[in-house]
Amino acid sequence: MKLKIRTDKKEYSITLPNKKRVQKAAESCQTVFTEGVEQLKSDVRAVRDRDPAATSDLEVLTLYSGIHATLAYRAAHALSNKGLTFPARCISQCTRALTGVEIHPGATIGKDLFIDHGSGVVIGETAIIGDGCTIYQGVTLGGTGKDVGKRHPTLGNNVMVGAGAKVLGPVNIGNNTKIAAGAVVLTDIPDNCTAVGIPARIVKRDNVKVEADLDQIHIPDPVEKEFARLRLEIEQLKKKLEEEKKQEKESDKEN
Ligand SMILES: CC(C)(COP(=O)(O)OP(=O)(O)OC[C@H]1O[C@@H](n2cnc3c(N)ncnc32)[C@H](O)[C@@H]1OP(=O)(O)O)[C@@H](O)C(=O)NCCC(=O)NCCS
Repeated sequence: MKLKIRTDKKEYSITLPNKKRVQKAAESCQTVFTEGVEQLKSDVRAVRDRDPAATSDLEVLTLYSGIHATLAYRAAHALSNKGLTFPARCISQCTRALTGVEIHPGATIGKDLFIDHGSGVVIGETAIIGDGCTIYQGVTLGGTGKDVGKRHPTLGNNVMVGAGAKVLGPVNIGNNTKIAAGAVVLTDIPDNCTAVGIPARIVKRDNVKVEADLDQIHIPDPVEKEFARLRLEIEQLKKKLEEEKKQEKESDKEN
């Protein structure tokens, strides 16, 4: 449909979208809105389920910076998916200033994320987070600086990342795994494990304590071990040779 506007000097012609297109746009807006509301309800429920301090939906919606950050991320991610990367980054950076949580719009995050306390959380562009994950303050899901392309971690479902923990590089964290507060994870961690320390090591698998020699991730490198043995042997032979030379010299002097 065309709309013509005539002034004294000029005639303007504006093409209006037809009724079908307007209806289609309205329908897709409604779908996005309904999905967004459902998503938000689910995120709020996740906080209520996992934080004993949360007393009402209103409290969670208004006072939890983790929820604000998640909500803003979902809007930024939708814009980013439509190719609107600049407005998406604007939302992300404004949210960072307000909540202390920086989630790159390109990250992929599942349902029911709970970011507790919020402050100091950084989630990189190629990070993937499954459903039902919990992330505490000071967590980084970042890159090591060595990788290109997929350079951030992938978390499975129901993963818990404790306060201040850093998960670095394109590593995979299995379903139901717990990363202890303050841990630095640089390698894959399988399903149903607890990993602690720097660098993180598995201390529990399927709720059973893991002895050091059962740890399949941090096994000693046999090649490195062999080199160390050879180095030691060379040092010993050198010493022996020097002693023999010394003895030879002394016996020459005596003769
Ligand atoms: C790791 C954690 C989830 C407990 O998981 P779990 O499977 O129940 O593990 P356990 O408590 O049985 O601990 C297993 C071992 O890890 C050790 N451990 C636990 N947390 C640790 C940590 N953060 N750093 C180093 N070691 C840790 C325990 O001392 C125990 O060692 P032991 O076998 O020598 O006794 C919990 O300790 C943790 O770090 N939670 C983070 C919570 C958080 O960030 N809260 C912030 C709220 S503001």
